[in-house]
Amino acid sequence: MSGTPEILVVDDEFILRELISEILLRRGWKVDTAESSERGIMRIKEKHYDVVVSDLMMPGISGMEFLKIIKEHSPSTSVLMVTGYPSIDIAVDAIRYGAADFVVKPFSAEKLEFAVRKAIDQAKQYQDFVAVIGLKNSEGSDSKETGETKLVGHKGSGAPAGLNLVQRTDEQMHRSLEVKTRRLEDKVKELSVLHTISDTLDETREKGEIFRKIMELAIIITGAERAFIGLVNNDTNEMIVRAAVNYKTHSPVGRKFDASREPFRSVIKKMCYSYSFVDDKGFVPLVGNMVAPFDRAPLLTLPIIINGESLVILGLCGKEGLMQFSDDNMAMLLNLATKAALKLENISLANNIFTNILATIDSLINALDARDTYTKDHSHRVTQYALSIASAYGADQGVMDSISFAGPLHDIGKIGVRDDILLKEGSFTTEERNVMKSHALRGEEILKPLNLLKVEKAVVLSHHERWDGAGYPSGLKGEDIPIVARIFSVADTFDAMTSSRPYRSALTSHVTTNEILRCSGSQFDPSVVKAFMKSDLLHNFERIAGVGGSKNLDVG
Ligand SMILES: [Fe+2]
Ligand SMILES: [Fe+2]
Repeated sequence: MSGTPEILVVDDEFILRELISEILLRRGWKVDTAESSERGIMRIKEKHYDVVVSDLMMPGISGMEFLKIIKEHSPSTSVLMVTGYPSIDIAVDAIRYGAADFVVKPFSAEKLEFAVRKAIDQAKQYQDFVAVIGLKNSEGSDSKETGETKLVGHKGSGAPAGLNLVQRTDEQMHRSLEVKTRRLEDKVKELSVLHTISDTLDETREKGEIFRKIMELAIIITGAERAFIGLVNNDTNEMIVRAAVNYKTHSPVGRKFDASREPFRSVIKKMCYSYSFVDDKGFVPLVGNMVAPFDRAPLLTLPIIINGESLVILGLCGKEGLMQFSDDNMAMLLNLATKAALKLENISLANNIFTNILATIDSLINALDARDTYTKDHSHRVTQYALSIASAYGADQGVMDSISFAGPLHDIGKIGVRDDILLKEGSFTTEERNVMKSHALRGEEILKPLNLLKVEKAVVLSHHERWDGAGYPSGLKGEDIPIVARIFSVADTFDAMTSSRPYRSALTSHVTTNEILRCSGSQFDPSVVKAFMKSDLLHNFERIAGVGGSKNLDVG
């Protein structure tokens, strides 16, 4: 290869083709483009390319077929396959057919540049190798000039020139096979790491947990000793360490660093990674004390770009001499950073949406409480009672979480009940009673945008079902009623009876408990009633109710 590398970009998607082309042009390489494999084949027949960057999925001749044609026609051209769906099968096939590497979508400009730089080096090594051993280069314009004349020049070996050629050809094939096997092993390892990254992050929903997994994966990928996550505060121009792993004695969590200083400035402003040896003692808390006496400590910092800003920084500190991360390691790290950024963006979006919906629902609950002062705080109180019973029942965490989340919303459907019915002091007519009963179904309807879990929906929809099947809205019976609703039903009744209503005073907890025991097996699940009796609800009633003795209750 002489002069500027020549690159051909083949992709049927115009935007991606132009984007890749733009990134590579900015690096100073010469770039041609083709919109299909067919056009690409025409291009490689017209001109030699050092590297071809090709999409794997294209209409007409597929990327894999295109790869085979390129390697047949021009073995020294390195081919990079671009794909959004990497699998070990595809990797094995592509490498068997001679691909240099994969670029997995979505990719950053840095990751693409890494891969192309490596491909250029491979093409150069191949061309140098062919030139040195003097084998015939079938791509050369002068096919008559072979390496045989150069091999004859190995004087003093005593071996005939033809034998030399055979030996060297064998050696070359052997080395080529070794290189291919190694690349294949590397690629399988890389893909397995990429899958681990995806799987690990996909399983994670909570921000702190994601930070911990990012650091752990980064250490696995690079062999670095310590890792930290810093959050950038643009208002104060500081980077605050939010999480860290493997700092044995002095954790840097909570420490603040000037974000306008290197290496953070570059990571934040230029959104590129920075691999540096810091010689400022101010960084000791980040790099640890592995360099003693402190001299020049290695530190890799890279951005996790969220919504177009470097708001999160991943830092890695290696043991001495272990900071020369390979290109492959760097490519995997950048992939990790890209995936982590997407995950964090999604969580932040989901949290925003969720927070907005919750705020709206909270104001609906307040509106409901404001309309019906007698049931004020009923929803929150019932939730506490239900948690107490669920705990005594031995309910799993899923049930406990569902009660905590959906409990305060269980009567939200009453928002649609007219004041003259909701606030009526006398007994209901049949029609009025039916309107009141509709609150379970209305509640489920109102909460649809929240995409509640099945067990959370059951709190809202089924808290008026009865063990004997005489409840509403579905008349479910026995264990067909979700356990979360069977628990909620006892808690709801307990609060209704121990609260004052316009038409009667609050009943004592003693009277209420007897009533609940009487209805065990008819209205209530006997096993839930048993849990109710041994729960701390009765003993801590005043504290849980938050009534401070203002109610006339006969606890005991
Ligand atoms: Fe209700
Ligand atoms: Fe209720």
